[in-house]
Amino acid sequence: MLMRYWGRKPLKLIDELMENINGTVIDPFGGAGTIVLSALKHGNRAIYIDVNPYAWLVAFVNIVKIDAEEFRRRGDEVLENLSEIRKRTLRNDYLYYSNGKPFWKKRNAERVSQFFSLNNFRKLYSILKGIDRVETSPEVKIALYGAFCSSLFKASKMKRENAGSWGVPSYWIPKKHKEVDAIEAFKSEVERFYLYFKRNKGYRLHEDVELLIKNATSFKYNNDFILFTDPPFFDEVQYMELSFFYWVWLRESRFREIVKVLTGQSIDFKMYNEIIVNPNKGIDHNKYLQLLDKFLRKTKKIKRKYLLFHYDKEEFKQKVITLVRERWGKIRIENIEIEKQRNIGPKGGKKYILIYLLLS
Ligand SMILES: C[S@@+](CC[C@H](N)C(=O)[O-])C[C@H]1O[C@@H](n2cnc3c(N)ncnc32)[C@H](O)[C@@H]1O
Repeated sequence: MLMRYWGRKPLKLIDELMENINGTVIDPFGGAGTIVLSALKHGNRAIYIDVNPYAWLVAFVNIVKIDAEEFRRRGDEVLENLSEIRKRTLRNDYLYYSNGKPFWKKRNAERVSQFFSLNNFRKLYSILKGIDRVETSPEVKIALYGAFCSSLFKASKMKRENAGSWGVPSYWIPKKHKEVDAIEAFKSEVERFYLYFKRNKGYRLHEDVELLIKNATSFKYNNDFILFTDPPFFDEVQYMELSFFYWVWLRESRFREIVKVLTGQSIDFKMYNEIIVNPNKGIDHNKYLQLLDKFLRKTKKIKRKYLLFHYDKEEFKQKVITLVRERWGKIRIENIEIEKQRNIGPKGGKKYILIYLLLS
C-alpha cells in the first residue's frame, strides 16, 4: 500500500477469503481500500464506499492507475514554481465539534495550524497552491494531493526523531519533536509515489472499480453484490477526527472540484455520519449499535456477505453477533486469530482476533 490509513489490516486473511469469491465485491467501509484491492487482484470488479473523503483519497492512490512519468513531471513542476505565501492559519481548523466539545483525541493543541512551524506552514501552503495550478489529468492531480497529505505528518510538530508516520493516533505535540523541511518531505513523497505507480499496474476508475464517498447506511445495495467489509469497531480508531488534520488542508485547495470531475459527486466532510463510539459526539455504545443495525437492515437481502470484526472485548463481540444474527438470520461464525500486523494505536502490540460472519 502506498498511503497508510489507521487501523489493522489482516491482509493474509482477506486474500485467503477472496480466493473463493467471484463477482462484484462491495466494501462500504472501504478505508484505505485493502479489501477492494484484494478483490481486484483476484479478478473481480469492485465498489468502494467510505463516508470520509480523506479515506477516499488514500484508497484512490492505492488503487487507481496513475501515469507515473506525468506524475513525477508535475510534482517537479510544483516545486519549481513555488510562490510566496504570507498566511499563518487554516480556516475553521479548531479541534472541536459544533456542539462545543473537544475532539476525543485532542491532547495539547487547539487547532491544526498549530502543528506547523511558520516556515513549514508557508512552504506547505505554497505547495498546495502549486498543485492547484498545475495542468494535468484529474487522476494525477489527486495523486499530487495524496503526496502532499503524505508529507503533512512529517512536516509537522507531531513528528518525533525516529518516527516516520502517525503512530500515536491523537492530536499531540511531543516535547521532543523534529519536523522535516516541508519541501524535502514533499519531494521524497513524490519520489515514493512515483516508484509505486511505476511498479504497480493500477486499476481503471469506473471500468474495474468504482470509488464513492457516501454513507454506508443510506446506499442502495444490489442484492447480487458480494458484501465484504470490516466495519469500524466501537471506539478503536477515530478515523474522521484524525482525518480532519488532512481535510482542513484539502479544503483550502481545489481537491473537492477535482473529485467532482472524477466521481460527479459534490462532497463534504460529514463527521456526524460516521459509525463510531465517541462520547463527545454523543455516540455511545448503544447508539453505535443502532447505526450498525441500520447498515445491517440495508444489507439484509444481499446473498453473499462477509463481515470482518476486530474485537478485544468478549462482551462487545457477543453484542455484535447477537445483532447480526437478529438482522441477517442464519450466520456462520469463525474465530480467527492473526498475528499482529503493525504496531499502531494505543491497543497495538497484542494479538488480535477476528470473526467473520457468512450467510450460508
Ligand atoms: C475499520 S475501517 C475500514 C478499514 C479498511 N478495511 C482499510 O483497509 O483501511 C472503517 C471505515 O469505515 C468508515 N465509515 C464509518 N462510518 C461510515 C459510514 N456511515 N459510511 C461509510 N463509511 C463509514 C470510516 O471512515 C473508516 O474508514
